[in-house]
Amino acid sequence: MCGIVGYVGKKKAAPILLDSLKRLEYREYDSAGIATIDGHFHVKKEKGKIAEIDKTLDLADMPGEIGIAHTRWATHGVPSKKNAHPHLDSFGKVAVVHNGIIENYVELRNFLKKQKHFFTSDTDTEVIPNLISYFIRKGKGFESSVREAVKKLRGSFALGIVSVVEPDKILVVRKDSPLVIGVGNGETFLASDIPAILPYTKKVVVLEDGELAILAKGGVVVKKFETGKIVRKRPVAITWTVEMAEKTGYPHFTLKEIFQQPDAVQDTLRAAPEELKNLAKFLLKAKRVYLVACGTSNHAALVAKYALAKLADFPTEAVISSEFQESCRVDRDTAVLAISQSGETADTLKAIKIAKSHGAKVACLTNVVGSSITRESDLVCYIFAGPEISVVATKTFAAQVSFLLLLASKIAELKGLNSKEFEKDLNAAPKIIRSVLSEVEPKVKSLAKKYKNSRHIYLIGRGLGYPIVLEGALKLKEITYVHSEALPAGELKHGTLALIEKGTPVIAVVPLGESRARMVSNIEEVKARGATVIAIASKDDEVKKHAEEFVSLPKIEELLSPLGYIVPMQLLAYHITVERGQDPDRPRSLAKSVTVE
Ligand code: G6P
Repeated sequence: MCGIVGYVGKKKAAPILLDSLKRLEYREYDSAGIATIDGHFHVKKEKGKIAEIDKTLDLADMPGEIGIAHTRWATHGVPSKKNAHPHLDSFGKVAVVHNGIIENYVELRNFLKKQKHFFTSDTDTEVIPNLISYFIRKGKGFESSVREAVKKLRGSFALGIVSVVEPDKILVVRKDSPLVIGVGNGETFLASDIPAILPYTKKVVVLEDGELAILAKGGVVVKKFETGKIVRKRPVAITWTVEMAEKTGYPHFTLKEIFQQPDAVQDTLRAAPEELKNLAKFLLKAKRVYLVACGTSNHAALVAKYALAKLADFPTEAVISSEFQESCRVDRDTAVLAISQSGETADTLKAIKIAKSHGAKVACLTNVVGSSITRESDLVCYIFAGPEISVVATKTFAAQVSFLLLLASKIAELKGLNSKEFEKDLNAAPKIIRSVLSEVEPKVKSLAKKYKNSRHIYLIGRGLGYPIVLEGALKLKEITYVHSEALPAGELKHGTLALIEKGTPVIAVVPLGESRARMVSNIEEVKARGATVIAIASKDDEVKKHAEEFVSLPKIEELLSPLGYIVPMQLLAYHITVERGQDPDRPRSLAKSVTVE
């Protein structure tokens, strides 16, 4: 959940670390800190957002050409200065930044206390520098001390470690938490995620679980931390540009990414066919198929479930990753398609591991090359949507949906069903999204002004309209903080109708298709209880007459509706957030990539 970065080279480390931290800040942001070495340790850390901390502490003003830094999202111990990383050991020999969770920290802490180590924070992390320094004090070298210490840790960790006993290198270790190493010219970087180091290098080494890397000015050596055996690795070239990872003129990443959707879908549709056929065959071989994902990726999976059934006569089950263990029957005839933008979501990774342990085959669909999920999967597919910085997923949802619709069409084709017409329609998706984007914003802005102070917003849909409203409600909740609840329109009468009163806003998503007429009845049903209905439907749809507010969309074929109908809801969430004076890029309490269960 936290972000870590590191630098060793010929330049002053602190300004580079600060810049990299800012690029990672979307990950977590309750506190931050930097440690550099220049003869001895220099440490600055504090609670708060990086910009605020920098204002008071001047983070770039620290000596030394080597350092590590961290941006924290609290797990053990409240956000505070003492709990902020980097953490030092009791004897001032070692500093550590950590992303992950140490499960056996209480046991290790008790052991270390008996060895005269003392603790100043409430974190699980503080045992790590102390354990390393325990071995250093016993006469072992820096690297062997790290290896000894790491062998004793249970849990997940990506670590950046520096020591005054060998102040020219950073040791980096990875187990179940993301980590990349950037190789520059006479300088080496580490980061939890690629955008953090993009301005400095495009050559990246991805560390696998169980590996330790020794970073120095001259380059990087990778070893297995259990055995010390050298692992030869070639850096991979990253094609993302720095501009791709920056805002390019938009006030927020969220808005930029909403407007990038046509391009993201275009790229996905272009690149998908390479692996698509293999994935289709892979799924067709299984007796039972689960689409496993969390959050927005789960909503893309629900769209896929619908499309696979309708277009390809191929039944699947969409399961929330954290429910997989308890609710699914898994055996050798089972195939799992794990869907995860980041490729790092702990619940999804765990579901994959459980599936594999029962003999199931696992494929994945992700946006991040070399992410953890790709290493656990038998077959790997990418959406190629480019980096998504905003915590709320927008363009990656569109890209996932496009890929999965193409998959449904491919499976239909392999089953001898006619899907040619649909594929043609799908290729027009970028154009459709572009026209929605250019048409709906003025109306959505005026709705945002009117409804920004609502206490509750309900969203209803049927068929494919249901995953669309689920995703719409998630966007609203994540950044506006207005309570938003999505439900299948037919379920209203089984409870939620009791909550509809005069003036309650209800968003009704009414795509073309068989459910249209029944949606009109549901609109009347809530209107009779005083609701203010905001309908989203095709230009000429008669639904307009039944609603107080109408968001008009171009005609969109039913199966493509998630790609067009989600756009006004993404924009509504964005504009309400801005109207309320909140920051859409930094929603409270949420993280882009949730790497703890
Ligand atoms: C977090 C993010 C969501 C995302 C979910 C799943 O909760 O804030 O935007 O949908 O994780 O992430 P994944 O990377 O697995 O798609």
